[in-house]
Amino acid sequence: MCRPTHYTIAYEINPWMRLTRQTAHDAARRQWQQLYRLLTHRLRARVRLIRPVRGLPDLVFTANAGLVADGVLIRSNFRFPERQGEEAVVEGYFQRHGYQIVRLPRRVNFEGEGDAVWIGSTLLLGFRFRSDATVHERLGRLLRCEVLPVELRDQRFYHLDTCFCPLGPTSAVWYPRAFDRYGCRVIASRVPDTIAVSEADALRFCCNSLVIGRDVVMPAGVSNSLTRRLGRRGWVVHEVELSEFLKAGGAAKCLVLRLT
Ligand code: ARG
Repeated sequence: MCRPTHYTIAYEINPWMRLTRQTAHDAARRQWQQLYRLLTHRLRARVRLIRPVRGLPDLVFTANAGLVADGVLIRSNFRFPERQGEEAVVEGYFQRHGYQIVRLPRRVNFEGEGDAVWIGSTLLLGFRFRSDATVHERLGRLLRCEVLPVELRDQRFYHLDTCFCPLGPTSAVWYPRAFDRYGCRVIASRVPDTIAVSEADALRFCCNSLVIGRDVVMPAGVSNSLTRRLGRRGWVVHEVELSEFLKAGGAAKCLVLRLT
């Protein structure tokens, strides 16, 4: 994770970001701290921190830094120049911590865990707005796994982790309307147990949740009916207020990058 010391809305690269809708710094810091405490205290997760860098406000969304597997970081190539400065910072961090770094060819865009989401041993790759479909072949070769590319079609859900959230190897929470017909078919055939959410819940970033064991860390504000549905299936839902991060188009899941 990365503290939101320099987090702000400095540019507009997705429909959520408005220079005129600034973040409240103290609130952002409090919200991030609550998430951090929940993860480290209640859920006993081990969290490492990357140092915030002035001028890189979106570095807080560490999920976009790359994809980590077995001591290897497949480093992101950000679509927008506004975020490309994060690449060297992330690379330096992982190098210092003993990871092997894999860089993709410069012309291929890839935004890490934002678009690459594991469902069991299959990697689902969301493409179009941020990551390129062509990266799927390379990811498959590097990770020796099946990679299924699915196209995203709604700008508001520009990363796969904004509209698809696996709850285990065979089930997921998702917002079907963020995908085209083919994508819906791929997901339906691969994930037998899906929970489709309403547009209102999707816009609250319910799919941008962190799943740790049976615990689901969800941005606050989603409907009771969704949290009840999850509760009935045995999931323990923890809501965290993350409104300041929604202003940049992110929530719980993208504030964290998985190291294992
Ligand atoms: N402002 C950031 C961007 O547009 C937000 C990234 C949120 N990350 C995510 N995985 N959804 O790139």
